[in-house]
Amino acid sequence: MTQAPTELRPKKLFIKTYGCQMNVYDSDRMADALAPHGYEPTQTMDDADLVVLNTCHIREKASEKVFSELGRLAELRKEGRNFMVGVAGCVAQAEGEEIARRAKGRVDMVFGPQSYHRLPELIARVAAGEMVLETEFPTEDKFEHLPAASKLVTRTRGLTAFLTVQEGCDKFCSFCVVPYTRGAETSRPVEQVLVEARNLVDAGVRELTLLGQNVNAYHGLDARGRSVGLGELCARLAEIKGLARIRYTTSHPSDMSDELIEAHRDNDKLMPYLHLPVQSGSDQILKAMNRRHTRADYFALIERIKRARPDMALSGDFIVGFPGETDADFAQTLSIVREVGYASAYTFKYSIRPGTPGATMTDQVDEAKKTERLATLNELITTQMRDFGKSVVGRTLDVLIEKPGRMPGQIGGRSPYLQAVYMAGPERLIGTVQPVLIVAAGNNSIEGKIVTHEERRPASVVESQAIAAF
Ligand code: SAH
Ligand code: SF4
Ligand code: F3S
Repeated sequence: MTQAPTELRPKKLFIKTYGCQMNVYDSDRMADALAPHGYEPTQTMDDADLVVLNTCHIREKASEKVFSELGRLAELRKEGRNFMVGVAGCVAQAEGEEIARRAKGRVDMVFGPQSYHRLPELIARVAAGEMVLETEFPTEDKFEHLPAASKLVTRTRGLTAFLTVQEGCDKFCSFCVVPYTRGAETSRPVEQVLVEARNLVDAGVRELTLLGQNVNAYHGLDARGRSVGLGELCARLAEIKGLARIRYTTSHPSDMSDELIEAHRDNDKLMPYLHLPVQSGSDQILKAMNRRHTRADYFALIERIKRARPDMALSGDFIVGFPGETDADFAQTLSIVREVGYASAYTFKYSIRPGTPGATMTDQVDEAKKTERLATLNELITTQMRDFGKSVVGRTLDVLIEKPGRMPGQIGGRSPYLQAVYMAGPERLIGTVQPVLIVAAGNNSIEGKIVTHEERRPASVVESQAIAAF
């Protein structure tokens, strides 16, 4: 239950967010839950009444940050600053008891992602003298109880927004903590997602990124109690007038259904850019990782996706140095990257996570080897990213204009491939989608020139011929 506001003196809330987009979304929702209770966001810890660390457990380094940050906060308290400290997120979920023990006296509440709707109540318990530890997976739906942000607040967050539609994971990849920190896979009901999406669009949002640890496994119930897949959800969202673009992340290759692939062909609002992590190019390693698909399956999938949407670009995630990875396995990863050609990719050294099957595997790869492989892979990925940037020069891309540029008379936005694009143009175009001829590509951004819809036509003809010829 959302509590009635208890305290209306404005208080300052500082949330430090680590980890993935879902944590970014969650931090906003925590702020929304506390807004009716008089908490206003602040950009610094120095004047905060409440500091929340929204933590990530995915790799060892990410987890360690919690304890160093708690140390820093303890120093501030010693200096006489008086504020409440909460640890939220995936480290709280996975290691709640340990944090409460190790950081005794430095932390007031530790709570997992399924308790965010109860934050006002948890704060009240701390105020009454309790040290709060909440890491249960409650049966109630937190989304039913989390209040929506006001229009004004949504506007300050920009023209693009995240929207969690699915949470948790049942895949149990042998390296990964997410099934333990976010729990079993659940999907939000269709109507609940549509209401939140309409609110965001009403407040000016033009692009939505649907979030889920396994977002393409989405299977929410519609108003008639029918199970709906992600493709159909996107079709329903596309009906919202004023919403220009839809993206989703992160997808698992085994859950790319025909329905979703067809949505990429039929739904113009769905962007032709897909994050489709494969992790490794070696079948042996994929098997040991429990990824549930082979290298050949991945290639076949990409072929199907590109048939539906020839201008689709891909991004990926890769882990080097998973237990048992040989030089030959790693060579397979390099070759899958070469064959697919990524627009972007995130690369990681395998990090042992307590409680996962990978942690007890005996053939761990030594650190120096991991470092060496990561450097080799990064070199290849960097080249591909640069090549992808260059490949759009001469193309006309739709750009969502988001903000004034750094120079006078300049505006900036994002291409369908999330590239930052700068061009000359008036600020009144902010919030619109414009056809932009890309004229140059730098390392971090590309430069374009707005063209009229008529000027664009020849390019579209060429594109549709390419589709026909595929
Ligand atoms: N939900 C996402 C994964 C989230 S974690 C998905 O299913 O793709 C993001 C990325 O972190 C993963 O894709 C993986 O590449 C990396 N990762 C996860 N566990 C890791 C570990 N133990 N060591 C190194 N990288 C890891
Ligand atoms: Fe982790 Fe695998 Fe689930 Fe992704 S699919 S969240 S990598 S267990
Ligand atoms: Fe990290 Fe949790 Fe996201 S472990 S990557 S914050 S789901």
